[in-house]
Amino acid sequence: METRYHDLEVKRRARARNVKIFRKLTGLNSIPKSHEYWTLCASQPQNGKSASEIVQLVKNGFLVPDQFHGVDRNKQLIQQNRKWHHKAHWHAGEWSEVIRDHHFNPAMVYLDTISFINTMSTADLVSNTMPLCPPNTVMIVNAMMNDPRSRKKFDYRDLIELICKSMGSFELKKWRRDIPGFEYNATGYTHMMSLVFVKDNK
Ligand SMILES: C[S@@+](CC[C@H](N)C(=O)[O-])C[C@H]1O[C@@H](n2cnc3c(N)ncnc32)[C@H](O)[C@@H]1O
Repeated sequence: METRYHDLEVKRRARARNVKIFRKLTGLNSIPKSHEYWTLCASQPQNGKSASEIVQLVKNGFLVPDQFHGVDRNKQLIQQNRKWHHKAHWHAGEWSEVIRDHHFNPAMVYLDTISFINTMSTADLVSNTMPLCPPNTVMIVNAMMNDPRSRKKFDYRDLIELICKSMGSFELKKWRRDIPGFEYNATGYTHMMSLVFVKDNK
């Protein structure tokens, strides 16, 4: 069964924190008119117990629907999101391919994964995204800090090490070395971490 992220208060709080971080880092109240917000999206209904990402962000004045780009490999979710929010942009497919093949001009990226934080697939997702981001992009990477089934715990520094290994120094030096993060408990047994990457105007 699909996790109903739009119904989770913990997700709403994490997104509110993302907005606060963006505002603090950039001094901007919202996504600039010329730029976009890109996210791994899942289902985004108009109504719900909490609020879906697009509903929450439009409501608090962070963006207008036309600036919202949602990507998911689940085609049915994308088709449904399109019916709910026809002014936003919905892309079915693999993240790295979608952003490579479309005009990609974010001010903020939310790589909101359901992967373990120390894996090559998480690192690849981040490394494929970094070079395509324009200057001043704030990219928040959200991933799992533990495997609730095996009780294994992971270290976020492994992700940073993998990214540094796979990325050329030319691109790497455009990103701030200071990578703040916050942890939160998602469903009782699952701990998530959000890491904040900032591309400078170099
Ligand atoms: C945690 S959910 C997104 C929740 C949403 N951002 C929110 O705040 O409610 C992650 C979604 O990303 C999709 N996904 C994960 N990795 C992907 C990838 N590499 N390409 C496309 N979709 C992906 C999954 O199918 C899932 O629906």
